[in-house]
Amino acid sequence: MKTSTNPVDIQKAPTSKIENVDFNNLAFGQVFTDHMMICDYKDGAWQTPKIQPYGPLEMDPSAKVFHYGQAVFEGMKAFKDEDDQIWLFRPEDNFERINKSSERLAIPAFPKEFFFSGMEELLKLEKDWIKKGFGNSLYIRPFVIATEAGVSAAPAKEYKFMIICSPAQAYYSGEVRVQFSEKYSRAADGGVGFAKAAGNYAAQFYPTNLAKDEGFQQIIWTDANSHEYLEEAGTMNIFFRVGDKLITAPTNDRILDGITRKSIIALAKEFNIDLEVRRVSVKEIVDAAKSGELKEIFGSGTATVINPIVGFGHAGQKFDLPKLEDSYAGFFKDKLTKIQYNQAEDKFNWRYQVK
Ligand SMILES: Cc1ncc(COP(=O)(O)O)c(C=O)c1O
Repeated sequence: MKTSTNPVDIQKAPTSKIENVDFNNLAFGQVFTDHMMICDYKDGAWQTPKIQPYGPLEMDPSAKVFHYGQAVFEGMKAFKDEDDQIWLFRPEDNFERINKSSERLAIPAFPKEFFFSGMEELLKLEKDWIKKGFGNSLYIRPFVIATEAGVSAAPAKEYKFMIICSPAQAYYSGEVRVQFSEKYSRAADGGVGFAKAAGNYAAQFYPTNLAKDEGFQQIIWTDANSHEYLEEAGTMNIFFRVGDKLITAPTNDRILDGITRKSIIALAKEFNIDLEVRRVSVKEIVDAAKSGELKEIFGSGTATVINPIVGFGHAGQKFDLPKLEDSYAGFFKDKLTKIQYNQAEDKFNWRYQVK
């Protein structure tokens, strides 16, 4: 399944920074590789993609991205197997999702052949930055920003599509306790919650800081109308295990259609795990926690894969979750990572080789 045939202009960095990087001590998203991909949109068309040394951009201070937040992004990972082959996980889904996000923000769609040819050429140049071994990966950040100068509140006529890459280790964010949101909302019906729009993340920082002051690391957002239904976390979809039943909210225009989430749903079906995709009420989860039936809550997302949650808070009450030997979180993490690192059969055709 090769889609990359288009030319990419490549300007190589004269030297590499890689020797200065401590790959055993990486903070997530702090170090970037030697190159970046840039593709400009002007005169109504995306121009030839370029790869050039990683470095600052020069932009007009009136560029629309700074004023109106016309910006979308994606998050993906490249993995290296024991034979030094490089793999992506469901990249077509990221491609489709960035264009879905762009459409909602009135940004022109990016061509598929540029997305794949640009990314693959970049990954081939940066292959030494992708380290072998479970947990190691190269985090890939495609994004689009409105670069046209001028502060009139209208969609820009010029954009940059870019890809930058950052080496990553297994993501461990410490013990995660979440707060069920009672006041603030992340998204509303008819809004941009389903899009990976930059502003969705900015809007979460303040309420998340308030939650942190109360001892929680993240918020699980509830529906904006009633705050009675649990939707998703800031950068993760959310699963609940009540007894042996796994429950997750259906996607809608407030929730990001997570690729990890839909992979877990497919695996749950394959392994006959009792799964319900339906609205999850705060009340049923609080009741299940009180009765001892609530066994797990975990988040799913590209950065963390699966993030087990150790407790939650709601309406001034705090609940702890049991520590399980045979958690669903551990089960899905094992299945997913083995597929990602080419160590298990890929029944669903999720892997994509970069060569
Ligand atoms: C709001 C939100 N929900 C869920 C996810 C998980 O999505 P995925 O599994 O595609 O990484 C992310 C991260 O991309 C996110 O930003």
